[in-house]
Amino acid sequence: MRGRSIRGSFVHAPVRGELEVLRVAVITIASDGTITSIGRAADGVPEGTIELPAGQLMLPGFVDLHLHAPQYPQLGMALDVPLEVWLGKYTFPLEAQYADLAFAQERYETLVTDLLASGTTTALYFATVHREATELLAQICLKQGQRALVGKVVMDDPASCPDDYRDASAELAVAETRAVIDHIRALPDNDRVLPVITPRFIPSCTDAALAGLGALAAECDCHVQTHCSESDWAHGYALDRYGKTDTAALDGFGLLGRKTVLAHSVFLTDDDMATVRAAGAGVAHCALSNMYFGNAVFPLRRALEKGLHVGLGTDISGGPSGSMLEACRATAQASRLLEDGVDARDSRETRGVPNSRIDMLTAFHLATAGGGVALDLPVGMFRPGYHFDALLIDPVAEAGTVRLFGAEPAERLEQILYTASRPNIAATFVGGDLVSGASPQ
Ligand code: GUN
Ligand code: FE
Repeated sequence: MRGRSIRGSFVHAPVRGELEVLRVAVITIASDGTITSIGRAADGVPEGTIELPAGQLMLPGFVDLHLHAPQYPQLGMALDVPLEVWLGKYTFPLEAQYADLAFAQERYETLVTDLLASGTTTALYFATVHREATELLAQICLKQGQRALVGKVVMDDPASCPDDYRDASAELAVAETRAVIDHIRALPDNDRVLPVITPRFIPSCTDAALAGLGALAAECDCHVQTHCSESDWAHGYALDRYGKTDTAALDGFGLLGRKTVLAHSVFLTDDDMATVRAAGAGVAHCALSNMYFGNAVFPLRRALEKGLHVGLGTDISGGPSGSMLEACRATAQASRLLEDGVDARDSRETRGVPNSRIDMLTAFHLATAGGGVALDLPVGMFRPGYHFDALLIDPVAEAGTVRLFGAEPAERLEQILYTASRPNIAATFVGGDLVSGASPQ
């Protein structure tokens, strides 16, 4: 698609609460994979324009703002225990196996292939503690064409991490993080993979590692990601250790900035939200996984109203699906569990918080444009200067028919988001390149 124009219908949600339908439009893509212009087909169609098949439409690619690449083999398994048990019993032993690069290669290739087929064009990945396997994941993303941010996980506290799966010291953890940053930035022809500083979460890191990574973030102008206020246990751990919340502690270590993404953040206080907002940091809302490990619903509407940047994450494998369509559905559904309830007999509010609901259109905005804003990257919408990262939706794909009875574009998009599955994603493009499916001619 680079250097070509595409004619067809494009639907996106650059602004929360608003759907923009570009019906019979022409998008022109530069040779570097960014959008140069968006016009109406009625105003002229350049020679060699690619026509989208009748009935198909394009959406911006999904931005998965939080997932663990090494956990894909246990997707949909072992979710009936609390977070701290799940980590020690299942997750650390699985992640430890990525010391073996052949093991890592096979699983990472499969994951990236599956995510591209599912429409995830940008992914913010936790890898493992291993430097080489993390670099391998970055190489695989680049080779398969996925836009990705890849972080070597730091977990160095011997009190909470197993001896056979942790950084040997804080100094080594910081040095290896620096080496991975340098490696990813130096990859040949790298127009889409970025490094991320990745302290796993406060309970797994020493103060020396957290402080070292905070200094590195400032020095390298690098993205940062971590888990924050995910469960009662994790939240309480930071309160016990510091006498303040994990958000405040992360801020103190220099780990909150415009390019920071905090996964979960279910139990943020009003002060925490003000801190996150002041830093310009983002939240990866992981609605499905919060049901298992948070046993709670992130107050998403409150966060949006306070002006926080929010995107959606699948949290593979804390959430049992890697599909961003499922993340959209779970976001809308979970918000309803927070909505208020009124006792019909005496009109008293009996539960919930008024005005909590999130509609599907907002979930779609968060899964695309919201993720782009949180990462401070030009992705998630069709705009000149933005990367052409997109999905071609075929509502009547064999083995995946979506019945579009809705008359209005917003209704039809809603039906797609609620009922489409992987076969309906006919093609996925990143930076103007076909990375999955078949391209229209
Ligand atoms: N907190 C620390 N590590 C993890 C992890 O791998 N998954 C989730 N969901 N939470 C975590
Ligand atoms: Fe996670």
